[in-house]
Amino acid sequence: MAILLPGGAGYIGSHTAVELLNEGKEIVILDNFSNSKPEVLERIKKITGKDFKFYEMDYLDKQALEKVFEENEIDAVLNFAGYKAVGESVQKPLEYYHNNITGCLVLLETMKKFNVKKFIFSSSATVYGEPEKIPLTEECRTGGTTNPYGTSKLFIEQILKDLYKSDNTWDICILRYFNPVGSHESGLIGEEPQGIPNNLMPYIARVAAGTLKELSVFGNDYNTPDGTGVRDYIHVVDLAKGHVCALNKLDKEGQGIFIYNLGTGKGYSVLDMVKAFEKATGKDVPYRIAPRREGDIATCYADPKKAKEELNWVATKSLEDMCKDSWNYIEKNS
Ligand code: NAD
Ligand code: UD1
Repeated sequence: MAILLPGGAGYIGSHTAVELLNEGKEIVILDNFSNSKPEVLERIKKITGKDFKFYEMDYLDKQALEKVFEENEIDAVLNFAGYKAVGESVQKPLEYYHNNITGCLVLLETMKKFNVKKFIFSSSATVYGEPEKIPLTEECRTGGTTNPYGTSKLFIEQILKDLYKSDNTWDICILRYFNPVGSHESGLIGEEPQGIPNNLMPYIARVAAGTLKELSVFGNDYNTPDGTGVRDYIHVVDLAKGHVCALNKLDKEGQGIFIYNLGTGKGYSVLDMVKAFEKATGKDVPYRIAPRREGDIATCYADPKKAKEELNWVATKSLEDMCKDSWNYIEKNS
């Protein structure tokens, strides 16, 4: 029995593939490389010493998808495929809704046809919109997303809830990621943002590398200890391990729809991140204070208690690990 990873060549999918292979699981990856590179596949094999099947294809292609299910005994699907650039989603809403929502629907329809009903979905803390309270628990109100990317996550969560209501033999796990950063300690796989990064950690790493001149800190007048935005940064390897725990829960208990925050429960400000990166790497990160970025919130971090209690999962890597591993990947790959 194999686990199918649509989008498994991407940042979070590739790290999860490593953890699944390390656990002795059989995996099948499919990806169209719209935001990843083929060499990632060899690197996953190099890290783990294990082989797996790969299909270069679009997950919207129903015929090709059915072939994957015909050729493999798929037991569960972990869906990482989708577009994720918030700003771009505002410019290209139809492309985002089509790829993220229609793609997921095609996938779920195909799973249903082949009677594969174990599904893990990559959601995001963005579904909480303006946080009802901090730290965020899974019961907090969702909605009020400010861009098509975030709204696509919210809609898919609703689709999954409706699907489970209609047929409770599905086993579904919705994982709400907070802010994934870092890379595998080997430096072989990591985050590959195309063009100028939008997210904080890849931007800091490129400033430290000298590729970008300085970091713009988006606002220092928030109601936070130093005035800059506070987030829950989580090492991508911890996040990947969360998927293994979620799969174990569905394997053991099954039959339910579960939602978990995957975060550390700690909030760091933009300036905390700059300082931590400088300390961990010995590199300078020049910055200037810039206006607030539209759609940003002051503070967002998780209450990760539910994942600890029900998945037996906690994030163990430190902020120093996150900074060192991000830098290691940049150094080895530029
Ligand atoms: P990523 O872009 O690195 O990986 C996504 C992968 O999906 C890429 O390899 C891309 O080529 C592939 N893909 C996209 N559309 C496809 C299609 N139509 N058919 C086949 N393959 C396709 O992104 P990531 O950071 O690994 O994120 C994985 C998932 O987690 C996404 O759904 C993302 O929205 C979600 N997520 C990411 C973050 C984050 O900060 N990275 C935070 C919260 C949620
Ligand atoms: C972003 C996405 C969110 C997604 C999350 C996952 C946006 C608006 N939101 O969240 O949908 O789920 O990533 O990782 O993109 N910052 C700077 N200068 C920069 C970049 C960022 O000061 O050049 C600040 C931001 O204002 C924020 C913090 O750094 O306070 C983190 O920003 P970022 O890494 O983009 O993540 P989020 O905005 O939390």
